Amino acid sequence: MKLFVDTGNVKEIEALAALGILDGVTTNPSLLAKESGDYRQILKQICQIVRGPVSAEVVATDTAGMLREGRDLASIDEHVVIKVPFTKDGVRACKTLASEGQRVNVTLIFSATQAWLAAKVGAAYVSPFVGRLDDVGTTGMNLVREIVDIFDNFEFPTEILVASVRNPIHVVEAARMGADVVTAPAAVIEQCFKHPLTDIGLERFLKDWEKAQAAKV
Ligand code: E4P
Repeated sequence: MKLFVDTGNVKEIEALAALGILDGVTTNPSLLAKESGDYRQILKQICQIVRGPVSAEVVATDTAGMLREGRDLASIDEHVVIKVPFTKDGVRACKTLASEGQRVNVTLIFSATQAWLAAKVGAAYVSPFVGRLDDVGTTGMNLVREIVDIFDNFEFPTEILVASVRNPIHVVEAARMGADVVTAPAAVIEQCFKHPLTDIGLERFLKDWEKAQAAKV
């Protein structure tokens, strides 16, 4: 399963890329709005760091506007993946952009029918938002299971990009279900590294080693 980081913050991306674990980045208007500076420059910088898919979202809500913004975003760097919301306008824009050879990430997916329709119009990625479904009292990962089943049945090439991830359990479940990609905030990726027994174990190894060395002199 590929790992993307869900952020517009260059420093966070640099730190994760340096670990060699990062396959791509997802941004959205809310994330980029938190960063200072020109969003095109930020996206360019991110693409140079990651050299993998970098989702950048349109803010237009009509098809013509989405096409104009999408083509402009794609001109920033060859790694940009155009993100469009799942609406009828977004579906139309996805179909056109995909036919032009652009990769499109259809976002704000909250049902299996939405994912299926996005796949039918050539989305490169669909982004089910699991955390936001959990937030309203449902089990977000059930949606991922449904999409995995449907895409397996029809061998859609569209990749399932699990989004709105809130904790390492979402990451583990996504991997067990066979999702193609998980995108997580840097804080969740940090949690994926941690286990207290690793820290305790390492401390004990080093202490035992030091003790043995001291006994030899
Ligand atoms: C995905 O592409 C979105 O940017 C993101 O995962 C949304 O997550 P949130 O629900 O934490 O805002």
